[in-house]
Amino acid sequence: MLRSIIGVRLQLRWRKRAGWLGSHLRERVPQSPRKREIEAVARTTNSLGAQKLDEAYGEVGGVRLPDDVRSSADLGDLYAWLVQQRRPTTVVEFGSAFGVSGMYFAAGLMAARHGHLYSFEINREWADIAERNIRSIGDCVTLTRGTFEDHVSAVVPGPIDLAFVDGIHTYDFVMAQFDTLRPRMSPGGVIAFDDIDFKRPGARMRDAWEAIAADSRVTSAVEINGRVGLAEL
Ligand SMILES: C[S@@+](CC[C@H](N)C(=O)[O-])C[C@H]1O[C@@H](n2cnc3c(N)ncnc32)[C@H](O)[C@@H]1O
Repeated sequence: MLRSIIGVRLQLRWRKRAGWLGSHLRERVPQSPRKREIEAVARTTNSLGAQKLDEAYGEVGGVRLPDDVRSSADLGDLYAWLVQQRRPTTVVEFGSAFGVSGMYFAAGLMAARHGHLYSFEINREWADIAERNIRSIGDCVTLTRGTFEDHVSAVVPGPIDLAFVDGIHTYDFVMAQFDTLRPRMSPGGVIAFDDIDFKRPGARMRDAWEAIAADSRVTSAVEINGRVGLAEL
């Protein structure tokens, strides 16, 4: 109840403080519109039980519960706030998984009455669930089955204002995705990187985030809750 009035507290660690993020992002963000509804949909989805992981992860027989792969509700509040404040025309996220981050982006877009979400997911079964979930919040989404890398040029019209990188969490994937995104971003665009604290041996997500934060084309860089890196170009 209190959180719905005073909002959600985020832990910020600035690496470079400048630009729009530097002057607008504070330690509190309000709760996302329709948060209760989004969390109810997420609970129903989790009750489906463990779901088969895409073979791109190389784990034979690997499964995950929907809750194991979703963004937290607090980070969902941040994504909805970013959308409402910045009023992006084009938001891109990959991957969709079961649509939890997508529902928060969609809630922000619907509240702003502006913009569209392009979400990408390689796992066909998960994509069906994600599409249903995000559409329950609004019709502002195009969900593409396949990799972001293969489909972005054909699917996303014009520059990207806000991007969320949440696919396979390794240095090589994320740095290549940063290179794919950068020329497609609008000036001053913001990219969020999930799981910068991912600890699997060899993943080197911390190295990827350090390289991105230090990149001279990144004007502002901040870590949220030690988990997500936000970079403004
Ligand atoms: C951590 S989950 C995403 C969670 C989701 N963003 C959320 O917060 O609710 C990662 C997802 O990325 C998908 N994926 C991995 N690499 C991808 C790529 N290159 N393009 C699209 N989807 C990808 C996986 O199948 C998986 O569903």
